Amino acid sequence: MAEQLVHPTPMRGVPQPRREDVLGQARLRVLDHPLVTALLTVARDERTPPAEFERVLHELTRFLLYEALREEPLQTFRVPSPTGEEADGGALRAGLAVLAILRAGLGMLAPVRQLVPAAPIYLVGARRDEETLRSTIYYKKLPGRFDVLRHVVIVDPMLATGGSAVATVELLRQTYSGPISFLGIIGAPYGVQHLLSADPDVRIYLAALDERLDDRGFIVPGLGDAGDRLFGTQ
Ligand code: PRP
Repeated sequence: MAEQLVHPTPMRGVPQPRREDVLGQARLRVLDHPLVTALLTVARDERTPPAEFERVLHELTRFLLYEALREEPLQTFRVPSPTGEEADGGALRAGLAVLAILRAGLGMLAPVRQLVPAAPIYLVGARRDEETLRSTIYYKKLPGRFDVLRHVVIVDPMLATGGSAVATVELLRQTYSGPISFLGIIGAPYGVQHLLSADPDVRIYLAALDERLDDRGFIVPGLGDAGDRLFGTQ
């Protein structure tokens, strides 16, 4: 007789905050726009192939970055316009850095590169054990010097239990004390609460805040495993 597959259920019986309970948090911003809804619908649809999934991730990341960089300081200067007049202009100041959580965070890097080409990109590899939901860091490429950084933007499409994000922030905090923004496509209330309470200076930007985690720790209704959707793996 074939052995029955038993899925671990580490979230069974674990209390979870309600969506309404976390939505009002000052350090959480959830996008709310018809364009975002339309893009998210494509991302959630299980029939969307990896290349299209990646394209949608890129578009959503642009909107998230737009929100997260609202307060970025500018270095101002003037430029000559073809009309013969000068125009006021500006460029983002140095000190902004991006940190992508592997693997799925890779799917958010291209638009970041385009919008903030001068920002260095650092990587942290975090893997979530599907039985315990604990995250372990298996790779890191972090800045050699943190005193030149002003703002670190973390990208990862999923904020489920928050374990991977919290482990990454804790790693950063060993040497960096400035502002951190976490950009995610989809989050669960549990993960949002976990990350906000783990660090008093982290801000979270999400394209969607879903209802809850299921017994296995997956965001529902969610979009599945972003890394697998992105790379066509299982
Ligand atoms: C997924 C996702 C996040 C993490 C979210 O990565 O991309 O990093 O899980 O879950 P958490 O909030 O409960 O930690 P996964 O561990 O599946 O690795 P992958 O990106 O390499 O597929």
